[in-house]
Amino acid sequence: MPRFESLADAVGGTPLIRLTRTGLRPRIYVKTEWTNPAGSVKDRAALSMLQQALADGSLAAGGTVVETTSGNTGIGLAAYAAHLGLRSVVFTGSSVSKEKRDVLAAYGADVRLVDAFVPKSHPDSLRSVAERFVADTPGAWLAGQYDNPANPAAHVRSTGPEIWADTDGQVTHLVATIGTGGTISGTGRFLADVSGGRVQVVGADPATSIYSGGDGSQKAIEGAGHFVHPDAETDPWPESFDPSVIDRYEPVDDTTAIRAIHDLARTEGILAGGSSGVALAAAYRVAEGLTEDDLVVVLLPDSGRNYLSTYFDPTWLTANGFDGDGSDGDGSARDGDAPRVGDLVTAPLRTAERDAITVAAVAALGPADGPVAVLHPRPRTAAPHPADVAGWTTAEALRTAAPDTLVGALAEPVTARVGAGEHAATAVRRVAGSTPDWRHAVVLDAGRVTGLVARTALEQSAEQA
Ligand SMILES: Cc1ncc(COP(=O)(O)O)c(C=O)c1O
Repeated sequence: MPRFESLADAVGGTPLIRLTRTGLRPRIYVKTEWTNPAGSVKDRAALSMLQQALADGSLAAGGTVVETTSGNTGIGLAAYAAHLGLRSVVFTGSSVSKEKRDVLAAYGADVRLVDAFVPKSHPDSLRSVAERFVADTPGAWLAGQYDNPANPAAHVRSTGPEIWADTDGQVTHLVATIGTGGTISGTGRFLADVSGGRVQVVGADPATSIYSGGDGSQKAIEGAGHFVHPDAETDPWPESFDPSVIDRYEPVDDTTAIRAIHDLARTEGILAGGSSGVALAAAYRVAEGLTEDDLVVVLLPDSGRNYLSTYFDPTWLTANGFDGDGSDGDGSARDGDAPRVGDLVTAPLRTAERDAITVAAVAALGPADGPVAVLHPRPRTAAPHPADVAGWTTAEALRTAAPDTLVGALAEPVTARVGAGEHAATAVRRVAGSTPDWRHAVVLDAGRVTGLVARTALEQSAEQA
C-alpha cells in the first residue's frame, strides 16, 4: 500500500474490481469510488475546486466554504475544508438521506436544510439561499460544482488516467451516471482522447432525467440525473457537463436501479449506492451486445452504507411502493393477512392541473366527495412523482368555487405517503408516527403516484383486519 503524507494525497487511486457473476460475455470492472477518504467520487471534485480557489485567491485562509449539494460534494468539501483549516456551510434538502446529513455534521459542517420546492431562480431555492449567504458573509466562497471547471478537470487529471493505466489501455466502454456531469465529462473526455475515439462513453441516466430525454420529474435515486421544477421557465444544463462526450444514453428506472444494487450486494458482495444501480443496470444492457474482447468499466460513485435507511430498508421500500424483496418492514409479523393499501385504491388517480386553467374547466371530475390530486403542470411521460402533487381537493370544491378561482388555491397539501403494497395497518401506524395530522396520503407504486387515499378509509380497513 502507498504511504501518504497528507489526506489530500490519498484522494483517487480507487480500485477496479472485476464482476464474476454476471454471466455476460465482456469483462466488467467496477471502479469503487467510496474508497476515497471522504467516501465518494465527489472527493475528487471537492478537493480540486478547493485547491483551485485557494490558488486563484477566491478563497483564503480562515475563509468559509459554501455549497448546495445532494450530499457527497458537501461531504468532500467538509472533509477537505476541515483538513485545510477552513469552515464549511452546506445547504441541502431534507430528501437527502439522513446518513449523509449526519456525516456532514460529523466533519463539523454547518448543515442548513432548505426545503422549499421552488425553481432554482426563486428567492427561496437552495441556490438563491446559498448565494445570499455568500454575499452577506465576508470570506465566503461558493464552490458551485455545477458550473466550476475544476470539477470535470479533476477527472481529466485523475479518474480517466487511472482507468486507462489500470486496464492497460484495454477499456472499450465507460459507463457512468450524470449529476453535475463532472465525472463523465472529465473521465470520458480523457478516455476518448487517449484512445483516439475508441472508448465508448455511456451516460447512465434515471429514466425521468432530462439528460436522456425524460420528462424532468423527480426520481427516487439521489445524485444522478437532472430534474426540472415544473414552474421553471428555463433550466440550463450544468456547465460541468459536456454532452458531446456521450456516445449513447441508457435510461434506467428506479426499480431496476434498486434491484441492481440489491443483486450486487447479494451476488458479488459489493454494497453500492443508488446511482451505482443506475450505472450497473445500464452497463448490463450495453454488455448484452458486446463480446469477450470488450472491457466495460462502470463507475460506482458511493457506497450502499449511505442508503441503509432508504434503498436497503424494507420499510422504506414498501412505503414507497417498491416491492422490498417481499418483506414488509416491522409490520410483517403483525399484519400478515391485513389488506394492502393498493387493494383499497381501485379508482384511477383523478387529477387536476394546478393553475393551468380555472376551476370551471375541471369541474366535471366525477364523484363529488372523492379526493382529486392537484398536480404541478408539466409534460408527463410517467405517473406523477409525489413532488408533482401540489395538494388535494374535491370535485365538489372545484364545482362550487368562484369561476375565476385558480385550481391551486383550492389545494391542501398532502404530506403523507403510503406504498401500494404496504399493509393498511402498517401504513396507518407508520404515517401517524411521522405526520400525526394527516388527512390524505399519496399512494405510491414504484415511487410514482397511483392514487390518493383518505385517512378514514385506510384506518377503517386497518381496523377490520
Ligand atoms: C451518489 C452520486 N452519484 C452520482 C453523482 C454524479 O456525479 P457528477 O456530479 O460528477 O456527475 C453524484 C454527484 O453528486 C452523487 O452524489
